Formats: sequence, structure tokens, C-alpha cells
Amino acid sequence: MRIGKEVVGEGFIDREKELRKIRGLIQKSNIVIYGPRRIGKSSLMLEAARRLRRRYACVRIDVRRLIPLDHKNFIKHLGLAALEAYSDATGEKLLLFVERVKMELPELLSRIRVHIKDWVELSIAPSPDLTDFLKRTFEMGEQLSWKAKKDFILMIDELPGLVRLTKGRPDKKDLDFLWALRGHMNEAKHVHYIVSGSEVGMMERLCGSREAPFYGSLIPIKLGGLERRSSLKFLEMFIPSEFANVIVKETSCFPLYLQAYATAAKLDGKTLESLHTSVFELLHLHFSDLENHLSPQQRLILRTMASKNIRTTRETSKALEMPYTTIHSNLERAVLTGFLQKVGEGKYEFTDPLFPKWLALPLL
Ligand SMILES: Nc1ncnc2c1ncn2[C@@H]1O[C@H](COP(=O)(O)OP(=O)(O)O)[C@@H](O)[C@H]1O
Ligand SMILES: [Mg+2]
Repeated sequence: MRIGKEVVGEGFIDREKELRKIRGLIQKSNIVIYGPRRIGKSSLMLEAARRLRRRYACVRIDVRRLIPLDHKNFIKHLGLAALEAYSDATGEKLLLFVERVKMELPELLSRIRVHIKDWVELSIAPSPDLTDFLKRTFEMGEQLSWKAKKDFILMIDELPGLVRLTKGRPDKKDLDFLWALRGHMNEAKHVHYIVSGSEVGMMERLCGSREAPFYGSLIPIKLGGLERRSSLKFLEMFIPSEFANVIVKETSCFPLYLQAYATAAKLDGKTLESLHTSVFELLHLHFSDLENHLSPQQRLILRTMASKNIRTTRETSKALEMPYTTIHSNLERAVLTGFLQKVGEGKYEFTDPLFPKWLALPLL
């Protein structure tokens, strides 16, 4: 088994509450799923899609995989996702290759009488009017779903990938774009949207205040660790229960970590100590990837907090002999990107139960 690949179907654990919520709400509201990296957002989306596929044609796009990562390309892929959902619902293969799309799509679209021929032109034009392109893309989604006689669920994984930070704040242009997106999503009738994001602080900003684009518009589902009972049941298939109890606590039931312990146990870890060691080895790439999302200065700051076990701006500033304001702005940014949670004025906690332990390991 590869650790880190999304889990669907048989290996999928728990999240029954969230799945019920999605099933119950999706017809009426759009949904946003958020929580730290590797907490199981994509797995939850895919599992929801699997369970809802009779009733809806579900397609997911992963914003982080878009090249180039800009508004136009995003809109284009949203349109392509709607076309894929149409194919999925009707069995009509509209999309074989993106290349062929350019050639055959206008003809196909006019054949099924979706009067959006110019969508293709817009999608390949060097600089289309994005407002118009966005509007037409949503219209096309609605028409396709109507033609297919099936509602669509389009899943937009890692939407904040589209939001750049300028001086620690979401970029104004990107926010305008999200507002436009919100408007169209609200109006859609037959296409339903599930959006996700890892940057917890940012997602809370985007959903949390009246001035934020997703406020009241997308119903939030915040993901944390799995339920303790299902986590224990899972671990006990591989690990003696006295160890399982400790692991459940130490990992806060983060699913990736439970999977890593299970794998470590299969690899012959007999003592708790040896399990810990091989888990940190197995997760090395994951932790390095997390660390790569930090600037060098943030890395230094978080490493210091982790290894000296300090959690306040003041103590960190003292330990590093750096100005309070520098530390403060770095920590606030780490809240936005989801590495830290603020627990009081100038006080923080790491969101991830194991990452600080890894940061505290001596550098090789
Ligand atoms: N419900 C679940 N049941 C079992 N394993 C899970 C579950 N959710 C997540 N995982 C594990 O955690 C890893 C990360 O999940 P993923 O869905 O990719 O997270 P995210 O999209 O939040 O980054 C997966 O590789 C999988 O091993
Ligand atoms: Mg994901």
C-alpha cells in the first residue's frame, strides 16, 4: 500500500457524519470542506462522489494541478469538468483529448444543442473577457446538466491555490474573482459545487465574516481527525490495543498517520519505539513537503518553537533574538496557511500533532 494516496471505497474509514451532511445538503446548498493538509478532504470528496454517483454525475478538479494556475485556465477546466460530467451521465464521449476538444467540441456542442459554441473559442482565446467567459461556463454547465437529465456535482479541490497572498493578505483581484464565482455558484440550479481548501486560516476568513466571499453561501464542513472509535478499530487490526490507545492520542486520529502506523506494523515494528521510528521514516516526504510550504524564516521560527517547546510570540522573539513584530507577522501568516492555530493573544498551537515532533528532530 502506498501511503498518501486518496482512499475511497473499501479502505475508507469513518466520516459518516460528514457524508450524511453532504448527502443531505448538496441538493440545496454548495459546500466547502476545509482542514489541514492530508486530513482527508480529497478522500472525503471522492467517497461522497462514489456514494452519490447514481443520482449525480460527479467530477473533481484539483486546482493545484492546473498549469498555468490562473483564473482563465481555472474557468476552462471548470467547463471541461462540466463536459466530463455530461459524458459520464450520458455515456457520450465528448472528451477524449484536450486537443480533440478544440476540433470537435463546437460541432458536438451544436449537435446536442448547447448553444455555447463560443465557449470553445473563449477557452482558447489568449485574453478573453473573464467575466463573460465565467458566465458562459456556468451557463454551459447548467445546460449540459439539463440535457443529460442528471444533476452534476463539480468538486473544486484546493481552491485557495487560486488566491495569492500579498503582504499576508489575500490578493484583491483574487477575492474579486471568488466573489464572481460565488454569485454564479449561488445561482446554479442543476450543478452543485463542493469546494475544498487546506489553508485553514484562509478558509475561515473566506467563510467567516460578512465581507468574505463564501460567507453564508457555502456551507462549511471542517475536518479534523477521525473518530476515536473507528480509529482504534482500524489500528487494532494491525497493532496491539495498548499501543493503539497511545497512537490514537498522539496522532489526534489524523488518518494519514493512522495509515502510516498500520504500514509500520506490517513492516514488522514490534515495539512502540520501533513503530515511532519507522513512522517518521515513512512520513519523511510528507513532512518535507509540509516544510516546503514555509519560507526560510518561518522554518527557523517554527523549528525553534518545536525544539524548545515554546508557543508564544514573546518567548520565540527572545529565543531567536528577533524583533517581536517580525515573529508576530510570521506567526499570523502561519495561522492563515494552517500550520498554527491561535489559542490566545500571542499564543499558538501547532495544528498538526506530529509535525512539531519532526521539526524538533536534529537536522542530519
Ligand atoms: N477516511 C479515510 N479513511 C482512511 N484513510 C484516510 C481517510 N482520509 C484520509 N486518509 C488517509 O490520509 C491520506 C491523506 O488524505 P487526502 O484525502 O489526500 O487528504 P487531503 O486531501 O486533505 O490532503 C490518504 O492517503 C489516506 O491514506
Ligand atoms: Mg487533497
